[in-house]
Amino acid sequence: MQAINLFQNPLLTLVGAGPGDPELITLKGVKALSSAKVVLYDALVHTDLLEHAPENCVKILVGKRSGKHSFKQSEINELIVKYAYEFGSVVRLKGGDPFVFGRGSEEIEYAEKFGIASIVIPGLSCSTSLPGLQGMPLTKRGVNESFWVVTGTTEKGGISPDFYLAAQSSATVVVLMGRNKLHVITEFYKSIGKDKMPIAVIHNGSLKSEKTAIGSMNNIESLSKEKNIGTPSILVIGEVVKERTATLSIANNIIQQSFKTLI
Ligand SMILES: C[S@@+](CC[C@H](N)C(=O)[O-])C[C@H]1O[C@@H](n2cnc3c(N)ncnc32)[C@H](O)[C@@H]1O
Repeated sequence: MQAINLFQNPLLTLVGAGPGDPELITLKGVKALSSAKVVLYDALVHTDLLEHAPENCVKILVGKRSGKHSFKQSEINELIVKYAYEFGSVVRLKGGDPFVFGRGSEEIEYAEKFGIASIVIPGLSCSTSLPGLQGMPLTKRGVNESFWVVTGTTEKGGISPDFYLAAQSSATVVVLMGRNKLHVITEFYKSIGKDKMPIAVIHNGSLKSEKTAIGSMNNIESLSKEKNIGTPSILVIGEVVKERTATLSIANNIIQQSFKTLI
């Protein structure tokens, strides 16, 4: 058997890929990719981003994609350690921001146990960037003063208990991994007398296939169904949804298209 030389000071770099559009990664993220030896990437990461990595870089999809093998978190942790020692460094490319429902800190903690140092390059989280791309502010003077980002699917599968607190406040509530809980969510708002609360469902945000449904707790389920809106989606709930500036959304699309034709 051939002996493998192990590197002395292995490094893990967590890179946030942004919400989908491959131009929404940071410059630092691109630089990390351009010198990567190994990239372990998630399913929601746009594969165009891999073109920044050298040709001989090892690129492995470790995220869930229907019909294909998906890695358990424990297997991803082990791959990080294995490749970091074999190649000297690993780039872990994660959708959005690695620290927003991204399990980034778990990977760092695991790597640390094996003497692997880490760097974090933040990314634009879908939770804040997708409403912004639509000209939908998460906070607006005179409308509200805060926003909550909650999960619709906790480790046990249910909606976070924090959602029920957030829904009773005047904050904007952004729900990730909550598309399949739309019925429970709308019923809860109705039960507390907020049936007219505005809500937007943004699917495949920032990508050409983006679809959005905007309505209230009374009609959003049927609107989403009509538009065939599935996962991945975020839910944006609050009075700020009414502040959406449609022209800005159109302008963003035009800007994105013109960038693409320039390259
Ligand atoms: C495990 S969380 C990861 C979030 C990520 N770390 C971030 O900061 O954007 C995945 C969830 O984010 C949401 N999501 C991510 N990208 C999205 C996109 N382009 N459009 C709509 N929702 C998206 C969906 O709710 C999806 O189920």
